[in-house]
Amino acid sequence: MQKVTIRKILQKKNKTPIVCLSAYSKAIAQIADKYCDIILVGDSLGMVLYGMKNTREVKIETMLLHAKTVKRFARKSLVVFDMPYKTYTNKFVAYKNAKRVMKQTKCDAIKLEGGKEIVNIIKYLSKNKIPVMGHIGLLPQTSLNFKVKGKSFIQKKKILEDAKAVSNSGVFSIIIECVVENLAKKITQSVSVPTIGIGASKYCDGQILVVDDILGFSDFHPKFVKQYSNLKKDIEKSIKRYTNDVRLRKFPSNKNVYK
Ligand code: KIV
Repeated sequence: MQKVTIRKILQKKNKTPIVCLSAYSKAIAQIADKYCDIILVGDSLGMVLYGMKNTREVKIETMLLHAKTVKRFARKSLVVFDMPYKTYTNKFVAYKNAKRVMKQTKCDAIKLEGGKEIVNIIKYLSKNKIPVMGHIGLLPQTSLNFKVKGKSFIQKKKILEDAKAVSNSGVFSIIIECVVENLAKKITQSVSVPTIGIGASKYCDGQILVVDDILGFSDFHPKFVKQYSNLKKDIEKSIKRYTNDVRLRKFPSNKNVYK
């Protein structure tokens, strides 16, 4: 088992695709760890696990619980902690919270959403030895409507400037969420660190998706998601069979009884 390091992630730029996935639990962490380079304990867990309307309601304490578990069971992959809304309002607040996260979860890095406006925070964290992954384009913590970014010239220019600023401030990679293909390509060519796309085309240096979306276990079906299983359907079938068995007294059978 070769531990994935930040150095190895940086070396993959323009060479090998970086494979990332979100995970929130022991079982998924154990499986994802066999195949992924990076596992993100994303604040998407607010919607995915807890049925929240958006990621703004997610509390750092909730994230800490999930991240501790994921990190314990993902021994090889780089584990990134997604800093929740309002936990990095300025560089001092960000450092205090990020230090707590790193100490309690043993995660390898944190992720922050934002462009030019958070550059001083990224610089401060990097200077204080906290590795940071950036996140630009669609920012779920601040843009509450789900809309593709970078269609207009002005938006394209702003997102490209954000990408360059974030890249130059010390991040080791940047998530690009939901932007048009030609912008993702331009950003990937313009920055020195790897770009990880979600709804941002094949031109990124890597890809990330939310695990429940690829497993068919969420109610979120945007165009950029490829669904590899239909867990919701499979689970429903199993629960239906179990309930029928109980009602028909087929369960427990002799096999399930202590004599
Ligand atoms: O919270 C999350 O899972 C994320 C990914 C969608 C990039 O931020």
